[in-house]
Amino acid sequence: MIVFAPALLVALVSCRGQDTDSAVVDVDAPTYWDDIAPVYRDNCVSCHQGGSLAPLALDSYAAASEWAQASAAAVAARTMPPWGVEGVSASGGEALAEGVTAPGSCDNEYTNDLWLTDEEITTIEAWVAAGTPEGTPQDITQPEAPGLAEGLDLTTPEFLPSPVGGGYGDSDEYRCFLVDPGLTEDAWLTGYEVYPGNAAIVHHVIGMPIDPERAGAGGQSNAALIAELDGADGRDGWPCYAEAGGSIQIEGEYVSWAPGQGVVSFPEGSGLEMSTGDLFAIQIHYNLSADQGETDTTTVRLNLEDSVERPGQILLMDGWDVNSIAAGDAAATVDWQLGRNSIASYTGFDNVVIEGVLPHMHEYGVQQVMEIGSSDEKSCVTGVRRWDFEWQRIYFYEEPISLASGEAVWVTCTYDLSAAESNVSWGWGTQEEMCLMGLFVTGG
Ligand code: HEC
Repeated sequence: MIVFAPALLVALVSCRGQDTDSAVVDVDAPTYWDDIAPVYRDNCVSCHQGGSLAPLALDSYAAASEWAQASAAAVAARTMPPWGVEGVSASGGEALAEGVTAPGSCDNEYTNDLWLTDEEITTIEAWVAAGTPEGTPQDITQPEAPGLAEGLDLTTPEFLPSPVGGGYGDSDEYRCFLVDPGLTEDAWLTGYEVYPGNAAIVHHVIGMPIDPERAGAGGQSNAALIAELDGADGRDGWPCYAEAGGSIQIEGEYVSWAPGQGVVSFPEGSGLEMSTGDLFAIQIHYNLSADQGETDTTTVRLNLEDSVERPGQILLMDGWDVNSIAAGDAAATVDWQLGRNSIASYTGFDNVVIEGVLPHMHEYGVQQVMEIGSSDEKSCVTGVRRWDFEWQRIYFYEEPISLASGEAVWVTCTYDLSAAESNVSWGWGTQEEMCLMGLFVTGG
């Protein structure tokens, strides 16, 4: 994402406006120490501190006031903190894309929520409007970025990415690498963390177990498909954009990571099965707009346990059933549904409990909603209103959803194709689309 030019512009324009008001001192205005520092401590500083991944610090009065205008704009637009699903807010329920009927409110609560309340946003705006008053300094303990002390480390080779060119690849490369976890016994993945070797260029990481024996599309085994691709252009790994690329069948998107995300822990007592013999594909999106000619080697640390109480599965579901969506349509939609019984038979679970979701579209996607219920009565449980391909992650519900018999999951995706040169169909490429919802399901 290119963020700095607009952010600086906002800062300059608003500073000018501020001068005219500077004689007025608003005694009721929020101050940094009373009102802003606690919100930033809880919602911003784990990413925005000296030496961390985000490019600016927000851990002191000086830093916070320097970035005040940009921060107010970013929180009002809800681009910061990066949290893609609608939390609980007073203004829930409006459609983002014009012409699309929005379901009722999609507000929901998720674990590790980074969602700001409407009041917190108003407070930040009021603080900035008042000229960022400091108030009386207080002791505040800033959080450290959390970390996984140990685990099974899977490391990609030292790699020199270079832009692939064309469309979305002008300053980017998406590359998959095959690593072998070397498991001698089946294990359960209960959490993970990603350590980018070169934080300046690693923009997202996706990790997927692959059963080498399983047939990919076209009937060839995954092992044979990968053997054809891996290193074919004389460099490590192979090009991939969605999942492991090509026609390789993955077991699930187990790891999905964006900068600053920290440790991801599956809900207490649950985990994902890793089978002996499975390999692991690690997809890295390198963004090279600022730095080229630098190498990277990234480590994915897996927290594995021998057993879990509630085995989970990630189902990557996409019921896309149209040939294509039309170029020029600013609010094209695709929708599909999946019944509870189908989920029960895919997973083998008697009870179907959805504990988390992993929304996924490509670059034309703008909005994705998931409803639960019957055709007569549905309620929205997850709403993505500001889809951002760069901030893909898994969201765990504070209250997992039990599907009753007769109920289904209904997913609607909206795309903005106003700039598309031709119609867009389903596929793995950057110019193709998906309406995929990953479901983290357990048997309760
Ligand atoms: C999960 C990590 C994370 C958290 C939490 C987070 N940020 Fe950010 N922020 C980033 C990253 C990374 C960038 C760099 C731009 C990008 O890649 O999206 C960024 C960019 C920004 C920018 C500059 C770009 C812009 O949008 O104007 C501002 C301002 C900002 N963040 C403010 C905040 C504030 C205020 C909070 C808390 C209320 C916050 N951020 C919470 C990771 C985070």
